[in-house]
Amino acid sequence: MDVLFLSPGYPSEMPEFVRGLAEVGARVYGVGPESPGALAHTAKRHLAAYLQVPNLWDEQDTISRIIRWLGGRTMDRVETCAEYSVVLAARLREALGLPGLSVEAAICFRDKEKMKQKLDDAGLRTPRHQRATSVEEIRAAADRIGYPLIVKPISGAGSANTFRCDDLAELDRAIAGTAKVAEVSVEEFIEGEEFTFDTLTSNGKILYHNIAWYRPRPLQARSHEWISPQVIALRDVNAAQLQGGVELGRRVIEALGFQSGFTHMEWYLRANGEVVFGEIGGRPPGARQVDQMNYACDFDSFREWARIVCWGALEAKIERRYNVATIFKRAQGPGRIVAIDGLERLRRDFGPAIVWENLLPVGAQRRNWLQTLISDGFLVLRHPDLQTTLRMADRVGEELRLYAR
Ligand SMILES: Nc1ncnc2c1ncn2[C@@H]1O[C@H](COP(=O)(O)OP(=O)(O)OP(=O)(O)O)[C@@H](O)[C@H]1O
Ligand SMILES: [Mg+2]
Repeated sequence: MDVLFLSPGYPSEMPEFVRGLAEVGARVYGVGPESPGALAHTAKRHLAAYLQVPNLWDEQDTISRIIRWLGGRTMDRVETCAEYSVVLAARLREALGLPGLSVEAAICFRDKEKMKQKLDDAGLRTPRHQRATSVEEIRAAADRIGYPLIVKPISGAGSANTFRCDDLAELDRAIAGTAKVAEVSVEEFIEGEEFTFDTLTSNGKILYHNIAWYRPRPLQARSHEWISPQVIALRDVNAAQLQGGVELGRRVIEALGFQSGFTHMEWYLRANGEVVFGEIGGRPPGARQVDQMNYACDFDSFREWARIVCWGALEAKIERRYNVATIFKRAQGPGRIVAIDGLERLRRDFGPAIVWENLLPVGAQRRNWLQTLISDGFLVLRHPDLQTTLRMADRVGEELRLYAR
């Protein structure tokens, strides 16, 4: 089994997918923009070969370099777990005559207007929406949709250039803020709680799903630096109030014709119980949410993903034992981390419930919290009881402090 894997170096969990592939018996051929020396140890160890390309965004150039590199050697699969190479992977499959998601289907996982159009056609509830490529079109869409509304890139990520507008003045601000974005979606703003529906799917059949709850909603988390955003992987995915989301998720995957691998959907639950589609990626969630699944069920979802894409099967026996909370921290002040407060007490009080500490150390340069949800690091903790998990997560939000200067 020879697998071409795009972007084994970025984001930071990609080396784990490389490991998974190698562990289920694949030879992994990596292609990415990093120099071979810059790859993480785990990636280096499990790659059979690696091709550095100048720019994964340049699809034509990358495809011809890969074909030259392969020199007639055949691959069995082309896979990626990174959002920005989902379409490139599909183009390569087409070029190499391999099975998997087609280019047309892959585009519906990237273009949020095409995505929602397909779901509308299937009778699923999406926010009222419209594509706009000029200031005039944005204004016309706003008139039609009404306030409050959202203006965001057609193929965005990380809530970048995403604006909530409650009136005309805010629409003007959004127009200025998205001036560099060629195409935007204008959408009805959906008030409510925000969840994920993440799956491991094999030939269109969902074999495992995870539901995570964002506290607060990502757009709020990205708008206020003082917030310590939480993502909570829920133990009880059978809770009654989540079933509308599960049903929506199943129908979305069917409507978009997803085949094999990870999917990551976001959906909104309104106070009146209505469930509304947000977006879906044909790849796993980021910000170490795949690790949350592992901590929730004590299995290796990186490896099970690999087993599915290579062999079509999932072997692990999955028991949902824990709720898992990831709490992302942002230091106070610019520059380098100079102190971390409150960690000792949390460790004492929570003991083994803290399963992963991944904070920047004292002396490290702060990360840009607007560019990465990971921010200046995170704590992961788990507990069988949801209320206890939430209480612990809130204490990490309030009591753990990083200072920078
Ligand atoms: N129609 C909407 N109604 C309410 N909130 C919305 C809407 N569209 C986007 N948002 C808010 O903006 C955030 C980012 O939007 P969206 O998920 O579509 O883009 P993204 O940048 O691809 O996200 P990600 O952070 O998952 O990469 C959402 O998580 C949600 O909080
Ligand atoms: Mg999103």
